[in-house]
Amino acid sequence: DKAGHKHFMAKEIAEQPQVIAEAVKHYLGQSGHSITLPDGGLDFTGIDRLVMVACGTAYYACLTAKYWFEQLARLPVEVDVASEFRYREPPVTEGTLALFVSQSGETADTLAALRYCRDKAERIVSVVNVPESSIARESDLALPILAGTEIGVASTKAFSCQLTVLLILALEAARQKGRISEERLESLLSALRGLPATLGNALETDTMAEALSLELAEAQDILFLGRGLMYPLALEGALKMKEISYIHAEAYASGELKHGPIALIDKHVPVVVMAPRDALFEKTVSNMQEVMARGGRVVLISDHAGLEAAQDGIWRSIEMPMVDPVLTPILYALPAQLMAYHTAVAKGTDVDQPRNLAKSVTVE
Ligand code: F6R
Repeated sequence: DKAGHKHFMAKEIAEQPQVIAEAVKHYLGQSGHSITLPDGGLDFTGIDRLVMVACGTAYYACLTAKYWFEQLARLPVEVDVASEFRYREPPVTEGTLALFVSQSGETADTLAALRYCRDKAERIVSVVNVPESSIARESDLALPILAGTEIGVASTKAFSCQLTVLLILALEAARQKGRISEERLESLLSALRGLPATLGNALETDTMAEALSLELAEAQDILFLGRGLMYPLALEGALKMKEISYIHAEAYASGELKHGPIALIDKHVPVVVMAPRDALFEKTVSNMQEVMARGGRVVLISDHAGLEAAQDGIWRSIEMPMVDPVLTPILYALPAQLMAYHTAVAKGTDVDQPRNLAKSVTVE
């Protein structure tokens, strides 16, 4: 049942305020002021390193979470795609928390990576959407993301719910390790409680994304740029775009632009820049200027303050609500998904069943 939407993907994008509200309620309890993990929780004493492994969109959720675990909890994190991790035979030592993220819980490479860590890691934890899945069953602790069934092959609500659960886990690690003040913790929990409403507002960018997508649908190539927490999101935006619209899309860390990819820029290439006005914003502005100086068409996704500060020359923009910088990946996932969705619709592709792709990849 598409609940009045043309595609399951549109329905699942629109559902994000509700499903994230569910996840937040589940992990922050009725009061919303403390973190509760299932099954007796997780003891971070004795954990001095995290290894996070996943594939595709779930891998980008892990890359995002690396910033959170490192910055909030000061825990070193290694992130890898499961197909590389499993055959590299990396050292996994005591004190390592091995964390696997998978919507289906059945991805062959992720499951094999989990089995490799069994008997080596201190604890095996998974973040899954299907609680009865193999990955959930074989973990010491499985954290549900509560996204509900996801039918569209391109993952949308599962991604934002994965991010939400991973952020809560990073906050719990920071709390247990005494690396976050009570005030800062409460202010981030409060931002999480307010997130469903903020996401509801962000969905209003749908019409802007739709209008923009008519123009993006003409492109042969699209670049996505982001810094810090926006870098993994740029990767996710490019993956979503190529998966369902079949337009070649690539993402780079903004600072990498001048180390090669800038050679691709001309007046035919739209460059989507994801940049809320955070501590790194000024750096991104100078990267945008480099793009514009070469005729590149910049699409800036930012908040009111960012759009004000970005000056002239921006080709198109999408204005996002303001939110604590820590939460921006969850919010900015929406325009990334909406742009891909509307571009695919404009191109007339099979949005829910893109060619060559399967929802659950149970063979390597
Ligand atoms: C992209 C997408 C895939 C999956 C990947 C992992 O939209 O859906 O990249 O994220 O195949 O799948 P799970 O999360 O089921 O392990």
